[in-house]
Amino acid sequence: MTTEQRTSIHGQWSTRMAFILAATGSAVGLGNIWKFPYIAGENGGGAFVLVYLCCIAAIGVPIMMAEVMLGRRGRQSPINTMATLATEEGRPQFWSLLGWMGVLAGFLILSYYSVIAGWALSYVFRTASGMFVGATADGVGSIFSQFIASAESLLAWHTIFMVATMIIVARGVQHGLEKAVRYLMPLLFILLVILVFYSMTTGYFSEGLVFLFTADFSKITTGSILIAMGHAFFTLSLGMGAIMVYGSYLPKDTSIAKASMIIASADTVVALLAGMVIFPIVFANGLEPGAGPGLIFKTLPIAFGQMDAGVLIGTLFFILLVFAAWTSAISLIEPAVAWLVENKSMNRIYASVWIGIATWFMGIGTVLSFNIGSNVKWLDKTFFDLLDNLTANIMLPLGGLFIAIFAGWLMREQSSRDELASTEKGYVIWQILVRYVSPVAVMIVFLNAIGVF
Ligand code: PHE
Repeated sequence: MTTEQRTSIHGQWSTRMAFILAATGSAVGLGNIWKFPYIAGENGGGAFVLVYLCCIAAIGVPIMMAEVMLGRRGRQSPINTMATLATEEGRPQFWSLLGWMGVLAGFLILSYYSVIAGWALSYVFRTASGMFVGATADGVGSIFSQFIASAESLLAWHTIFMVATMIIVARGVQHGLEKAVRYLMPLLFILLVILVFYSMTTGYFSEGLVFLFTADFSKITTGSILIAMGHAFFTLSLGMGAIMVYGSYLPKDTSIAKASMIIASADTVVALLAGMVIFPIVFANGLEPGAGPGLIFKTLPIAFGQMDAGVLIGTLFFILLVFAAWTSAISLIEPAVAWLVENKSMNRIYASVWIGIATWFMGIGTVLSFNIGSNVKWLDKTFFDLLDNLTANIMLPLGGLFIAIFAGWLMREQSSRDELASTEKGYVIWQILVRYVSPVAVMIVFLNAIGVF
């Protein structure tokens, strides 16, 4: 069968827009609103943000194009796509291991992602109950500490989020997702803009902007460069097959370059807006930018407690955050589900249930690392920290590196030209980035982080 005739057994996006929406739904999630502000805060702000932005442009976008391209050419789960393409391009079968590593990374990420999404879900109800009205920074902080101290509550919310995710995955990614993303994503964006206006009234807006956008390179370490790069992969959903599997449902006539740039820009704007909301609140209330994973839960409720219609806006905001997390969670598990359907002739429902149960169990480790198990550490890291580091800072960049090598060096030029079908100039720029810039940058950051130089 030629690549022209190949179709996906799982279906195809109805339009180019559907793909862009789904991939943006995958990219925009907790990474932008929960993770970006707290890691920017922990790593000193501006310089870190600059490194992150460079990683998005020089590493993220070319690798996203490569991932979509491989997916569309293979039209199967990442494991089988890599196996098929390796054969077609005359390369060894072990390239399918790239798909396996992605499945493992997606599983590990979802296990903790679901726990954090559970926090956001519980905050929908907390905010709606009026609990934060007029609350002080201390009050909001202690509500959060008490919440995460309860393993039972975290487990309950994690369970609800996992069940909801698996129900959607079982129904197939195309149904409903498209419409929901189309309306809810713009709404999330509008709410963020409203919150930026609120932050302007705190009297600390410029402090927030200075923190976020003035680069002080003395604050940057090799460790923070690795985190910035890892986050570029995490936030764009790259390096584990999520974008590849969405690419496998992409109609042939869509411009991969344009779509990738739209997705990466939307994702970056959301993260920067979130930063612009959070840091003025941090400074206005004398909080710590480096407060860690609880940062948004310790800051945003203060704003919701003070602003007009804060209960309504706050509730809506957390609902949309949960929704954004949901559309990302779905893509984390889709490569594994697609593989089970293809290879084990399992139906989507069984595949989703089994994977959901396994992920739920794994999530218990993260639940406990915020309370009972917070002192159980390895290399000075809790279970959650270890998982986050292993996946975002090692597995995703490693996956991305191999994707770049395969797409840039091992695939015949004719094949990638055929898929990317761009102008000569566009193709050459992509080729330089994917062959030299992205892989070399990833390798330098890795070697740097392990102390080679
Ligand atoms: N990009 C998602 C976020 O920023 C997380 C994610 C990572 C989703 C990897 C899929 C794959 O929240």
